[in-house]
Amino acid sequence: MKTTVGLLGCGHVGSGVAKMLLEDHDFINEKMGWPLALAKIAVRRPQADRPYNPPADFLTTDPYQIVGNREIQVVVELLGGLEPARTLALEAIESGQHLVTANKALLAHHGREIFAAAARHKVEVLFEAAVAGGIPIIRTLKEGLSANRFRHIFGILNGTTNYILTRMTRDGLTFQAALAEAQAAGYAEADPTLDVEGLDAAHKLILLTALAYGTLPALESLHVEGITRLTPEDIAYARELGYVIKLLAVSARDEDGRLEVRLHPAMLPRTHILAEISGPLNAVLVSGHAVGDVLLNGAGAGMMPTASSVLADLMDLARTDRVNSTSRVPSLGWSILRDEPVKLMSETKTAYYLRFTVADRPGVLAAIAKLLAERGISLAQVIQKNPLPGQESVNLVMLTHLAQEKNLMAALADSDRLETVLAPTRLIRVETRL
Ligand SMILES: NC(=O)c1ccc[n+]([C@@H]2O[C@H](COP(=O)([O-])OP(=O)(O)OC[C@H]3O[C@@H](n4cnc5c(N)ncnc54)[C@H](OP(=O)(O)O)[C@@H]3O)[C@@H](O)[C@H]2O)c1
Repeated sequence: MKTTVGLLGCGHVGSGVAKMLLEDHDFINEKMGWPLALAKIAVRRPQADRPYNPPADFLTTDPYQIVGNREIQVVVELLGGLEPARTLALEAIESGQHLVTANKALLAHHGREIFAAAARHKVEVLFEAAVAGGIPIIRTLKEGLSANRFRHIFGILNGTTNYILTRMTRDGLTFQAALAEAQAAGYAEADPTLDVEGLDAAHKLILLTALAYGTLPALESLHVEGITRLTPEDIAYARELGYVIKLLAVSARDEDGRLEVRLHPAMLPRTHILAEISGPLNAVLVSGHAVGDVLLNGAGAGMMPTASSVLADLMDLARTDRVNSTSRVPSLGWSILRDEPVKLMSETKTAYYLRFTVADRPGVLAAIAKLLAERGISLAQVIQKNPLPGQESVNLVMLTHLAQEKNLMAALADSDRLETVLAPTRLIRVETRL
């Protein structure tokens, strides 16, 4: 008896999984007392050179040698993208095969359909590699911390953007220069849109929210904002004020129990442990009512760290297979998923960093402070810089106390109409719970 596995894809992650299944076969067998056997790998270009080249007879261009094959109990989807990944995943489930995937985009967009199909067909969908690569955050939420009601989860969930922000922070690089460096170092794709616009991290945030709160929010219901508009200037002011800027994923209950799910650049106190997470690393800080705070950090991507998570899922399924007990724990850790609305961003309260570009004239600060005060926004700190030689404008930097987003936006709409405000005001939210 054994558990047989078929891989869809042998790219970055698939190569690592194939390598571990073939090279660590005896170790895994020894550990579990049950073999995990690789049967087939579907790819587009069998002749291509790969990070790990499995023996040629494993490769096929026909995914249906795996999907629907009764000899194969587990299908591992490592193609990426929405199609044909969705169709193949559903067909595998419908033919009674378990599914392992690293594809957060697929689950964020089609999770409801996929998890419902898995429940109907009594198979499992495991996705440890889909969030934060090698960090075992899915199992931690689903099993290790399953008895907790979660107060909040804060995550640095995208290595590309964290690498770029680290370079901008430590060495004053512009966004474009740091991105070019990340691409040269292999930390960013040729088309980095999904990463730098925040979508990749938002997909992961949706999955963390499902695990923590039992609801799978639609992408459109979240506020998602990337890092493309951040400047070295704002990063330097943040540092002067004692903060570091990170692309922060937030999933939390507010003081009224409403669900907040948002992804945007945020200022964190420089001394907070999340501010220390640098380069391509990821981290997730979870606060549960019984356990308190738990922090996991490590490699959020990469061939072998991601393969480590896929293998953990495969070993889990092999154990399930061995004792013939499916759905020991539901895929998302909840027996029922609810439909819970996400609080509107306009209702959210945070503190704000504001950078006004203003004319160097008396009375400007007072005029802006008055407009903010009219909307109930009070200031915690103000820095006014001298104009650079030859420049007419000065930067006026303010930190507010907690304010509601819709009031802040209304005040900025008013202040940006002032004749003395020379450019659209820049805003970065400050995370006060850290
Ligand atoms: N890269 C990471 O560090 C990382 C980390 C966590 C999660 N993930 C997720 O893991 C998944 C895979 O990522 P990756 O970086 O490994 O992607 P990748 O390097 O682009 O590999 C994709 C693989 O899928 C194969 N493929 C694509 N379309 C196919 C089709 N229609 N039929 C057969 N084979 C097809 C490709 O075949 P060819 O090789 O022949 O072209 C390739 O082997 C994605 O969902 C990604 O989000 C990646």
